[in-house]
Amino acid sequence: MSLTLAERAEAVLRTADGRAKAALSREHAAAWLAARDGSGPAMEIGRANPPDRPARPDRPELLAPRDVPRRRPGTPAGRIALLHAVAHIELNAIDLHWDIIARFAHVPMPMGFYDDWVRAADDESRHFVMVSECLEAMGSSYGALTAHAGMWRAAEDTKIDLLGRLAVVPMVLEARGLDVTPGMVAVFRKAAETKAVESLETIYAEEVSHVAYGSKWFHFLCGREDRDPKDVFHELVRHYFHGALKPPFNEEKRAEAGLPPDFYWPLAEAH
Ligand SMILES: [Fe+2]
Ligand SMILES: [Fe+2]
Repeated sequence: MSLTLAERAEAVLRTADGRAKAALSREHAAAWLAARDGSGPAMEIGRANPPDRPARPDRPELLAPRDVPRRRPGTPAGRIALLHAVAHIELNAIDLHWDIIARFAHVPMPMGFYDDWVRAADDESRHFVMVSECLEAMGSSYGALTAHAGMWRAAEDTKIDLLGRLAVVPMVLEARGLDVTPGMVAVFRKAAETKAVESLETIYAEEVSHVAYGSKWFHFLCGREDRDPKDVFHELVRHYFHGALKPPFNEEKRAEAGLPPDFYWPLAEAH
């Protein structure tokens, strides 16, 4: 009996090692996509029992945000620290995308919902491996430095609220990635770190679709419940997200991802 999609999602969440998590994620993504295009055995959505927190490697040591050392991107050590933080975000993102599948498997959704999050999880798995390889080429590795402990908080806060999860994870946190990635690309370009530039450009191009998946399914669910998406978004972000959104916003990429200015500007901090 072949595993269901939800069981496969749970298996990724329960895999601790980063490279092993990414590899299993890619394998399950390929099996799902093969089931969908008819080239592989059919797969049910099924049900799962995802852990409250995903399994993670012993290293990096996770610290409260205020204890994570500040980075100085003008130095090689600072650039390694920046990439290490990106690798940590990508590993977390693999878990976030599988968690939305495992955690909300009981909510009836069109098949395209699963296609989108499986594809996003597959992208994040490639991103994690790419950035880990950059770190290794620079003489470091994922786990060599400390990392941010608070990354799973948004998932825990929204574990019973699919609309809240979509609002906070893809439409706030991943959208923030669109705002800050061009600045990171500039840092590595200035330092002539070609491999890092190429990796960050790939990530930047692919993350637009993850924000777009969030916006698409958020609008779908609001429409199904006959609720106004903008009002619901403001209400849920104020409820689940701790703090104001930080301009400057990448309005062009946000627009490409289906996030109009009247969604995020009213949630920006006073400036
Ligand atoms: Fe990513
Ligand atoms: Fe993403």
